[in-house]
Amino acid sequence: MASTIFSTSSSLPTAVKGLDCNTYKPTLGNLRFIASPNKKSIAAPKPLFPVVRATSDVPVKTGLSDAECEAAVVAGNVPEAPPVPPTPLAPAGTPVVPSLPLSRRPRRTRRSPALRAAFQETSISPANFVYPLFIHEGEEDTPIGAMPGCYRLGWRHGLLEEVAKARDVGVNSIVLFPKVPDALKTPTGDEAYNDYGLVPRTIRMLKDKFPGLVIYTDVALDPYSSDGHDGIVREDGVIMNDETVHQLCKQAVAQARAGADVVSPSDMMDGRVGAIRGALDDAGFQHVLIMSYTAKYASSFYGPFREALDSNPRFGDKKTYQMNPANYREALVEVHEDESEGADILLVKPGLPYLHIIRQIRDNSPLPIAAYQVSGEYSMIKAGGILKMIDEEKVMMESLLCLRRAGADIILTYFALQAARCLCGEKR
Ligand code: PBG
Repeated sequence: MASTIFSTSSSLPTAVKGLDCNTYKPTLGNLRFIASPNKKSIAAPKPLFPVVRATSDVPVKTGLSDAECEAAVVAGNVPEAPPVPPTPLAPAGTPVVPSLPLSRRPRRTRRSPALRAAFQETSISPANFVYPLFIHEGEEDTPIGAMPGCYRLGWRHGLLEEVAKARDVGVNSIVLFPKVPDALKTPTGDEAYNDYGLVPRTIRMLKDKFPGLVIYTDVALDPYSSDGHDGIVREDGVIMNDETVHQLCKQAVAQARAGADVVSPSDMMDGRVGAIRGALDDAGFQHVLIMSYTAKYASSFYGPFREALDSNPRFGDKKTYQMNPANYREALVEVHEDESEGADILLVKPGLPYLHIIRQIRDNSPLPIAAYQVSGEYSMIKAGGILKMIDEEKVMMESLLCLRRAGADIILTYFALQAARCLCGEKR
């Protein structure tokens, strides 16, 4: 199984080879207890129950045939086997009660690590992750204060190392977010479709180094906009829809021309998926996928991301284009539009606070679903871990598993590398 995960990985560390990284089981650490049950498991403590272990001392073969063995048992010569174990004792003072007349006891399938693993409904693998990476023009990697463990990576140095590390543990998909120099930002965000801009340049370099890497791009004007908005802002503050879509089409085509595999409009303008599909097809990029940010909410969980890219709106908020967090049904309106306009993947964002939106879309569309575990979600788990209030690694893995359970096929997460290492049994 591991080999399918790592088939695209170039330099797999030998320590990881052969390990099953395919599924995450919350009880992974307990699996070793299958071999030798500890005190908490269903086997009773040793001193009370001296159990004869049939496997510890395999009897010497007698050389009897099957028929002779059967005849011996029929004749009453029953071979030795471990005795029926005594009933485990309950602590003194335990009330003696008649057992409840239950036809179903759901705890039966949870009795042991092996049973729990057998009936686990959801799994998670490094192949499900898309790793968002921040890039900049510098040569050094700059730490992002609000996102411990994340950096603005030098596009020619740190980025390459990070991508190589991710591929080593089976994460073969990334999404790029550029920090654009202020001097290149304009009200119409034209730098977004400069073929020699940071993103197209980086894509070409990554494709050259890692031909098998799957590169997702963000389609929106905010990193390039002097107003910090995803679209062109009119004098009266209105975000202009159709004019913005025109720019987004040029941006998507420039990214495709550089080699992007999946373009991801995160801007929430109306009609952009159909327009981008048309523009890509006209330019000969029929094979490029569109991952639409279908249900993207106007969320305060994006705060750390905007700090990372210095992309805070210079005025106002994004509520005239991103969805109202109070709305549930409206997500279906967006789903129908994106489906009919030709989106390949539907994305929900943020992730954990919006699990039921993921489930709603999963139940209403056959298309693949992506969940974005956004910067604020990441930073809260990191902060809780740093303050020793929660077990960072366990909460990280649980949060990712929950996104899968809700119905996400892929997850965009800043934890991609850390979680993949954890799935591969590596601790760093
Ligand atoms: C920009 C964009 C944002 C994120 C992804 N693309 C920020 C925003 O909409 O303001 C947020 C990602 C995160 O918080 O991790 N179009």
